[in-house]
Amino acid sequence: MRSPTFAVLLGAALLASGALSAKEVKVGVILPYSGGSAQLGEQIDRGMMLYYNEHKDELKPHTITLIKRDVKGPNADNAKVLVQELATRERVQILTGFVYSPNIMAPAPLITEAKIPTIIMNAGTAHIPSLSPYYARVSFSMWHAGYTMGKYAAEKLGYKTAAVGYTDYPPGKDSLAAFKAGFESAGGKVTDAIPMGGPAQVPDFTPFFQRVKNAKPDALFVFVPAGAHVAAVAKTYNDLGMEAAGIALIGPGDITQDTQLGLLPKESAGIITTHHYAADLDNPENKKFVAAWKKAYGPDSTPDFMGVQGYDGMAAIFHVVKATDGDVTPEKAMAALKGWKFNSPRGPIMIDPQTRDIVMNEYINEVVVIGDRLGTKTLVTIPQVKDPCKELKVGPCGK
Ligand code: PHB
Repeated sequence: MRSPTFAVLLGAALLASGALSAKEVKVGVILPYSGGSAQLGEQIDRGMMLYYNEHKDELKPHTITLIKRDVKGPNADNAKVLVQELATRERVQILTGFVYSPNIMAPAPLITEAKIPTIIMNAGTAHIPSLSPYYARVSFSMWHAGYTMGKYAAEKLGYKTAAVGYTDYPPGKDSLAAFKAGFESAGGKVTDAIPMGGPAQVPDFTPFFQRVKNAKPDALFVFVPAGAHVAAVAKTYNDLGMEAAGIALIGPGDITQDTQLGLLPKESAGIITTHHYAADLDNPENKKFVAAWKKAYGPDSTPDFMGVQGYDGMAAIFHVVKATDGDVTPEKAMAALKGWKFNSPRGPIMIDPQTRDIVMNEYINEVVVIGDRLGTKTLVTIPQVKDPCKELKVGPCGK
């Protein structure tokens, strides 16, 4: 018998070390990295990269290559072009990112045809996961916070009447429907619903809020997308003296986003919102997460809910790569995502195998003064909430 050649020996050695089976998994990331929504893209990206840098050795021998694209803002046409490019030219095996609902609703047929497992890191319109069998959502449904806040406002805060102001696009309409369903099921009455412009521009909220002040309901529930809209809401509420007029400002945690709290008037202490995350949440995973964030991005930086969604989304991507041993086919990836559980900084989370949407805690939070800053205090924890829109089979959530 001839002695083995050098090439054969090398091959055997590589096989033994696993190097020959090492896979590069290509992941396309679509976020707003420039323009008025850049802060949101930065938050999610920072969360993603924090998880990635903490855990990348666990993927060995496999690797993930991130291919990032700037969608620039709420722009469904840009999103479709980028999905097309990432699918056909880059041949990505996973898609992720997606802050704005229209940016993930419009490309659903393209993504279904290309069969690309897509891990949605924000985009809250309730029925989104049903638009493609390849969607899984690690963020939230607008109904998680809206419905929960509606019930709490009527049952615990004792409000009888409320006006709703909302940014006029799919998640805003959902937030209105969710709050109304929760509030009215507990005996409250929504007395006015005011569309307040689109997501791309921050409007002057004065005429909308003045209309509410004149009508004098017990509460004003507001949804605006996180980012540039947020400070203007609390500022207008304060400038119009609405608290003194007996009208409480409430909403989903988007209107008390941690990274915007520093821009709110100090009179904002006392505002109550409902959400799945706040940087001041008191649990060991979150303490570790916030400390790691400040170490990576500076002592004055803070994660907000988008940051934790990016972090958890990257944890989901790592899980897919590990569970499939790098062989990320559409079928294997979706099977791995269904039922996935993770101890997130927001508390325990799970991807519901039936709906591919997230199950998680909701927190009733009050804005409070902590030292020289505004922060939040959790008043109530509602454990493991499934999207109420799907539970109650409302509209397209029932299909
Ligand atoms: C959305 O477009 O779905 C969206 C954007 C920003 C938010 C919440 C929802 O804060």
